[in-house]
Amino acid sequence: MSDVIKIEKVPVENGDGIIALVSINRPNKLNALNHEVSSGLKEMCAWAEADDEVRVIIITGSPPEDALEGKRAKPHAFAAGADISEFIGKNSEDIRTLFKDNSWEAIWNLSKPTIAMVDGYALGGGCEIACSCDIRIASTRADFGTPEIKLGLIPGGGGTQRLTHLIGYGRTMELVMSGENIDAEEAYKIGLVNRVCPPPELRSTTLALAQSIAAKSSHTLKVAKQVIRAALENGISDGIAIEAEAFANLFDSEDKEIGVKAFLAREKPEWKHR
Ligand code: COA
Repeated sequence: MSDVIKIEKVPVENGDGIIALVSINRPNKLNALNHEVSSGLKEMCAWAEADDEVRVIIITGSPPEDALEGKRAKPHAFAAGADISEFIGKNSEDIRTLFKDNSWEAIWNLSKPTIAMVDGYALGGGCEIACSCDIRIASTRADFGTPEIKLGLIPGGGGTQRLTHLIGYGRTMELVMSGENIDAEEAYKIGLVNRVCPPPELRSTTLALAQSIAAKSSHTLKVAKQVIRAALENGISDGIAIEAEAFANLFDSEDKEIGVKAFLAREKPEWKHR
């Protein structure tokens, strides 16, 4: 994997497998998503999906490096958007080709649980990476926004659609049309982030949630993710039918038998799909 994507493999506690803690690593450019980062994220997704060891994927941004003498330190960033320098001279055909098979969709299409760990700016394409994850945990110094309108653009990584599902029509209109940022407290209030914590606690809070998820059956987690996603694609009657079918099918799974027996015996389940 390229230098712009770093992967830390955190062992699952009391079990097999790892939590992949993936950092976008261009801190001097506020982790802006250039072509190399996008390719690296897609490569990471292909690896995480295929490797049975990987239980949960956390995506974050690398922290700023120490300031050079006489210079100010760069701010913390999850990712401050697509790399604007790559937009110069591109026409619609170039962008259609570039965005056809993109990293936002690669993350969205992972069948495994994903968490965005946001410290600092999550703007434009960075906010969209966070929205492509299943869960978002932010530090109190996180800022979210879709400033594309200030460049004569709109979000292009699924932001208009995924934000509307997450925070609703009116809030999305406001964010996209004003291009103004919101802080972590506001993001929490409107449901854009699941939890907010002080910066020193962000890693432990996120990893604790990831460990809790990783302790469940990977098969059952996959089914849960698919069925919750169905709510975005279907009307409520069809969605309920999809859930009922998936629920019934789980009664043929070994992990349902293991989970139920372990509960009744007051033991910890030893999942077949760990
Ligand atoms: N694309 C390319 N480079 C970016 C970038 C982006 N989206 N966001 C930040 N950078 C670069 C800056 O050009 C700067 O590089 P330099 O030090 O080599 O000049 C470096 O990252 C630090 O950013 P800087 O603007 O100096 O930090 P700041 O603290 O003054 O401002 C922001 C922080 C986030 C407010 C500001 O960087 C910004 O507005 N970024 C663009 C956000 C955006 O519009 N994203 C959507 C893109 S579609």
